[in-house]
Amino acid sequence: KGCKLVGCGSALPNLQFSNHDVTKIVNTSDEWIYSRTGIRNRRILSGDESLIGLGVEAARKALQMADVEPDDVDLILFCSSTTDDLFGGAPSVQKALGCKRNPPAYDIRAACTGFILGLVSASCHIRGGGFNNVLVIGADCVTRYVDWTERKICVLFGDAAGAVLLQACDIEDDGLFGFDLHTDGDGKRHLNAVIKPNEGNISNNSVPGLIFPSGPASISQIQMNGQEILRFVVKAVPQTIEASLRKAGVRVSDIDWLLLHQANQRIIDSVAKKLEFPMEKMICNLENYGNTSAASIPLALDEAVKSGKVKEGETMMLGGFGAGLTWGSAILRW
Ligand code: ACO
Repeated sequence: KGCKLVGCGSALPNLQFSNHDVTKIVNTSDEWIYSRTGIRNRRILSGDESLIGLGVEAARKALQMADVEPDDVDLILFCSSTTDDLFGGAPSVQKALGCKRNPPAYDIRAACTGFILGLVSASCHIRGGGFNNVLVIGADCVTRYVDWTERKICVLFGDAAGAVLLQACDIEDDGLFGFDLHTDGDGKRHLNAVIKPNEGNISNNSVPGLIFPSGPASISQIQMNGQEILRFVVKAVPQTIEASLRKAGVRVSDIDWLLLHQANQRIIDSVAKKLEFPMEKMICNLENYGNTSAASIPLALDEAVKSGKVKEGETMMLGGFGAGLTWGSAILRW
């Protein structure tokens, strides 16, 4: 069985937050942020907006484009590391979409690589599991978890959601040619946000040694060693893309577009250079939205498709990387 992309959509919070706005909060400048990252603007979740709301809006647009009803969705993969329910956000997405047949819906929590893992998981569910319509949603609101007094980190992120619908098709029409996925748990020390289950504890004398947690759980601020992340990404991402190309049996010169996780323009430029891929065929929107974690690839894909830049039948390489450390790539046809 084959699988192909038949719809995409995205959603953004209303509040725009420029580098100039960031300078009102931390000691930084547009020049510092733009020259080191390529970011000028970002959107931030505010007021009544919710991450689930963004994910649902993106998913509805993808379904609309594909002309598929929520009731015909067989599986929902919600790729996010920032849902506000410990048990996951996918059930809320499913409820809000109104999928009456109760299709399975679960979270994939793999930071900025989440969408690539979601896409590959969706293809495996279709090829081996008999699913027909699988929604893959990448959505994150990292700005809610950064320390807005830590200038090295808060300038980098924005909030957004993007979604695609992957559909079963005949093998001749297959649109996902190859993929490659990795995790290096040792690299976790360079980028993490630790969940602390409780603040205090209650001991019970009748059961010596037993300590019950008490009080609210909390999450530590995001810790990041930016230099280490840069070093890892510029090496690992070209390698994973080359591996995907080999598995797909195609060459870089056969590819129409390269879309990388939108974290940093220096990373994007460096990977393009290593792969000898022309800059004019890179899909980038980092300047407007910052690093939107698992949303960045489907958001940029949606913009590129809706603007007419990416046309039906064109091939793309997608590359993701992030906390974990996780990284991976996929070769597909739009
Ligand atoms: N404004 C002004 N100065 C700053 C700022 C800021 N916002 N942030 C740091 N500085 C200063 C530092 O204090 C330091 O000053 P010092 O030399 O006097 O001590 C100087 O700038 C250089 O700091 P570095 O941290 O070495 O800056 P670097 O050149 O590495 O750039 C950056 C930092 C942009 C974070 C870079 O390391 C990077 O982009 N790394 C990749 C990070 C990334 O992409 N993370 C996301 C991964 S995806 C995920 O899963 C979440």
